[in-house]
Amino acid sequence: MEKLEMERLKELIRSIPDFPEKGVMFRDITTALKDKQGLHAIIDDFTNRYTDKGIDYVLGADARGFIFGAAIAYNIGAGFVPARKIGKLPGETARVEYDLEYGTNTIEVHNDAFEKGANVLIVDDLLATGGTAAAMVKLVEMLGADVYELAFLIELEDLNGRDLLDGHSVYSILKY
Ligand code: PRP
Ligand code: ADE
Repeated sequence: MEKLEMERLKELIRSIPDFPEKGVMFRDITTALKDKQGLHAIIDDFTNRYTDKGIDYVLGADARGFIFGAAIAYNIGAGFVPARKIGKLPGETARVEYDLEYGTNTIEVHNDAFEKGANVLIVDDLLATGGTAAAMVKLVEMLGADVYELAFLIELEDLNGRDLLDGHSVYSILKY
């Protein structure tokens, strides 16, 4: 994405202090999503990067990772797999518990979500401490599939989320 477009996109993201708890600066993407040009710029950037890369599945994190993940999967001709918070998937699952910037959580995928050796792109809106992303990497690897890259709209650099990702390739459109 060109620098000017990145600057404009950053202006579309609203920052709200002390949400959901004191000390957290919440980066609210809803203001970028509702902007026609903003939404286009985000999806086009990811689509350009991941077209014709042999990606079999896009794994999106519950809930904000679904928004970009499904659109990217559709555009690049891959399947979409939701990593859901605990208790939502009806079939047999693999699950991982993890910490986030404000609490702990557990995510799951169906055991038969990927074939062994499948090439998986992990997508979420935001990389903070890396807890969610690291859990998604674990889920992919537990099922014998491979992580192609992790893609985020926003990376909060101060929280060093990349350090939890075992050297996997990380792409983020905007850094804070
Ligand atoms: C947010 C965000 C990422 C995660 C990043 O999701 O959408 O998934 O936190 O934080 P981390 O890098 O510290 O793990 P949240 O769990 O708040 O859920 P939501 O998408 O349902 O709002
Ligand atoms: N998820 C984790 N940290 C966040 C933040 N600061 N803003 C928005 N989503 C988040």
